[in-house]
Amino acid sequence: PKSLTLLGLETSCDETAAAVVRRTDDGQITVLSSIIGTQFEQHAPFGGVVPEIAARAHVEAIDAIAAEAMRAAGIGFDALDGVAATAGPGLVGGVMVGLAFGKAVALARNVPLVAVNHLEGHAVSARLGADIPYPFLLLLVSGGHCQLLEVAGVGACTRLGTTIDDAAGEAFDKIAKSLGLPYPGGPALEKLAATGDPSKFELPRALLGRKDCDFSFSGLKTAAARQAEKITDETSRADLAAAVQAAIARQLSERTDRAMKLYRDSHPGQALRFVVAGGVAANGAVKAALRKNCDDNGFSFDAPPLAYCTDNAAMIALAGAERLALGLVDDLDAVARPRWPL
Ligand code: KG4
Ligand code: ZN
Repeated sequence: PKSLTLLGLETSCDETAAAVVRRTDDGQITVLSSIIGTQFEQHAPFGGVVPEIAARAHVEAIDAIAAEAMRAAGIGFDALDGVAATAGPGLVGGVMVGLAFGKAVALARNVPLVAVNHLEGHAVSARLGADIPYPFLLLLVSGGHCQLLEVAGVGACTRLGTTIDDAAGEAFDKIAKSLGLPYPGGPALEKLAATGDPSKFELPRALLGRKDCDFSFSGLKTAAARQAEKITDETSRADLAAAVQAAIARQLSERTDRAMKLYRDSHPGQALRFVVAGGVAANGAVKAALRKNCDDNGFSFDAPPLAYCTDNAAMIALAGAERLALGLVDDLDAVARPRWPL
């Protein structure tokens, strides 16, 4: 079978990533390399991602990371059929770095450029780990995004719901901060929650009367911060962490349940597949709640391998390869788009 080999570049947040992915026209996908340089240490002192620091760090890292991805893949630039770069949404300074690098490669090697939407990368990411056919229902839960999407292929994602304020990962991070936990807070909060009793704290439930698939976490964040201020002992801290985790998992699960019923009605007689992607998919309580949704509604459950759940360039290369296979390529004047809904 014929194949397409693409270099993918991801620089939309605090990870400088490059990867090489090969896709044969019978749908076989091989990740030849996936390199991720994290800026974690540069942002940690500030308790969150600082855009100016991120942009500068991407400039400093992109050359070496891309070279390493090519070296690890064991191919030369002449073996590339195209280059895919995240063109948004994200921090514009960082996006510009990866996109400019991608354009340079495309121009120098005379191969097509594919400007990829970061969310579309997450949407296809589960296909890097397993043969998951389209269409499927996707919950994308990361530090920057919280969306329910119907994914019918590249260029064919339909949004069923999104957050009206914070993303779920952002809520984890901010509440973790008010509990005095280090950044990024999600994993630290999960660890603390393991010894806590979630029933010891009452937290508000958002958007209860609404019949849509949207999310809201700002009320929870404010309530949790207020409770955290009053806490003086370790046991209560763990209890509050457990209550917060349960509340986030519950909201994700309630909205996913609604989306599953909508999806089932609009796909009569079809296979029902559910995928969760993004950094928050690492959370055990969230995953357990979503598995239950799948059991209740007759959906299969999949999550990408953890390395492809969080930000990476393999998902960008794959989205690029699938777009290129459909002839969906971009001009060298493609612009960075800080906001770019699917
Ligand atoms: O997908 P990702 O790496 O980056 C974005 O595109 O945002 O997701 C990072 C987010 C952070 O907010 C982090 O706190 C959260 O995922 N996260 C978790 C866990 N691991 C990562 N949240 C809850 N529990 C976890 N175990
Ligand atoms: Zn992401």
